[in-house]
Amino acid sequence: MSVPTKNKKLIAWVNEIAAMTTPEKIIWCDGSTEEYDRLMAEMVESGMAIKLNEKLRPNSFAFNSDPSDVARVEGRTYIASVKEEDAGPTNNWIDPVELKKIMTEKYTGCMKGRPLYVIPFSMGPIGSPIAKIGIEITDSPYVVVNMHTMTRVSTKVYDLLGTDGDFIPCLHSVGSPLEPGQKDSRWPCAPIEEKYIAHFPEENLIWSYGSGYGGNALLGKKCLALRIASAMAGREGWMAEHMLILRFTNPEGKKYHIAAAFPSACGKTNLAMLQSTVPGWKVETIGDDIAWMKPGKDGRLYAINPEAGFFGVAPGTSEGSNPMALASCSRDAIFTNVVVTEDKDVWWEDMGKECAGGTDWLNRPWKPGMKDADGKKILGAHPNSRFTAKAELCPVICPDWEDPEGVPIDIFVFGGKRTSVMPLVHEAFDFEQGVYMGATASSEPTAAALDLGNVSLRFDPFAMTPFIGYHGGDYMQHWFDMGEMLGDKAPKVFYVNWFQKDGKRFVWPGFGENSRVLKWMCDRVEGKVDAIETPIGMMPANDDLAKGLDLAKEDWERLMKVDTVAFKKTLEDAKVYLAKFGDKLPKKMTEQL
Ligand code: PEP
Ligand code: NA
Ligand code: MN
Repeated sequence: MSVPTKNKKLIAWVNEIAAMTTPEKIIWCDGSTEEYDRLMAEMVESGMAIKLNEKLRPNSFAFNSDPSDVARVEGRTYIASVKEEDAGPTNNWIDPVELKKIMTEKYTGCMKGRPLYVIPFSMGPIGSPIAKIGIEITDSPYVVVNMHTMTRVSTKVYDLLGTDGDFIPCLHSVGSPLEPGQKDSRWPCAPIEEKYIAHFPEENLIWSYGSGYGGNALLGKKCLALRIASAMAGREGWMAEHMLILRFTNPEGKKYHIAAAFPSACGKTNLAMLQSTVPGWKVETIGDDIAWMKPGKDGRLYAINPEAGFFGVAPGTSEGSNPMALASCSRDAIFTNVVVTEDKDVWWEDMGKECAGGTDWLNRPWKPGMKDADGKKILGAHPNSRFTAKAELCPVICPDWEDPEGVPIDIFVFGGKRTSVMPLVHEAFDFEQGVYMGATASSEPTAAALDLGNVSLRFDPFAMTPFIGYHGGDYMQHWFDMGEMLGDKAPKVFYVNWFQKDGKRFVWPGFGENSRVLKWMCDRVEGKVDAIETPIGMMPANDDLAKGLDLAKEDWERLMKVDTVAFKKTLEDAKVYLAKFGDKLPKKMTEQL
């Protein structure tokens, strides 16, 4: 195969990695439909992929992973900065020299019997001033097809690089060499204690070994677009955040852009694709997971979605919760660890429809209601099963989602899951308090633990705990610095909680009705609605935003209650948590406390 690039660094790097990993051949990818179809056909042939019913789910495929390789592995994820103090308390740190030695041993000969694929990709529209170029080397065809959907894979990237252009090298191997004649397993990977998801922030370098799954293997996403990019952004004065981006347009056509960060399992993808219940107001999706933001010439903060697809959690996705996500995977989709039904479509728990049966995520015959030896229900889909869908297929994708200049952000939203204490919505007095809100965003552990009474909160600053590529204290300081740089052009900051409960009942209806809260935020940006000052921030002065909902007066009061005693307890928890950041906790955080 001829080499489609003259880039010196790229050619040298591919040669170096091929010498170390000894693949059977090198395949330079081009991102074409032909390439996608060919790899899928090969994987169907080998038994790795299942072709779904062409009538029900055109051009779509299902995969079942190894049972040990179903999620990101935070315990095996490293920030190998030169100095330990640059990694901070939210990360695992190893000396980069030592880690490279360990991993070089693992990588030596690790691609034996497999092709080495070179994937040229752009995070963000190719050529955008905010975009970044990466090259992923992988021995997994599953990774190649997923990268096709999640990023922009194209030979244009080789052109853009020219002879001397720079890129972020992303090395990936499933860590499962094949001896001559050895039959491949359906989902090759290495045991957990041999997996490494490594980041070298000073070199803008990613090395991943042993896992084929999502965030461990599709290196453009969490590794590049969050961990490496957050470290770059901290150095260079921009932001790489774990945020959805949406456009909310009012009846007069005025557009507001909202970026929102929530920890896992708080409905980020659902909010990104929300169907507004406020008459005349419309939501359009720009991104569901990651935002890259830079100050523009007018001094405002502009955001792009660096991704090209959605890698969403399948269970719970239904016509009721997120019809737009379902529509996005109606064709050209990849499913991982879901049920493949008897008619070769897909199914998962809480999909909102019946399933006659099929094969479960472990590839075993399965029927709903099946129980294991202990009488426990056997799930058909893994709780972290995923769909990989093209963003362009989302019916409410914003027409400007690929604008290389990005969209100006008006509003930041933070949130978490709290069954009590945290009101439906409050607005920060100023940007600095907003940073405090983001830094102390927290969720409760499971409902079962709540019965214990003395619940400890799980803090997840900016929903970035597993993704901050440097010291969390420096990262918080960077948020304050950005606020200073943006001055009066900084977005307004709000904190929301959709999850207050009265016994088992959610007090707020959530889903589409969350648009009422977003509208209140936009009206606040315009100065159109009054708010009252409370000890924690500004809050709705009346129940106008709930008008027409079947909500009792006591429910509204509960949603708006500021329980100062409980808040003081939260503050004590926050103090204990923030102490972890030691000397690097910004002075401004202490002032906010
Ligand atoms: C992932 O686990 O691969 C992933 C994308 O994570 P998350 O759903 O937390 O964004
Ligand atoms: Na995950
Ligand atoms: Mn995410």
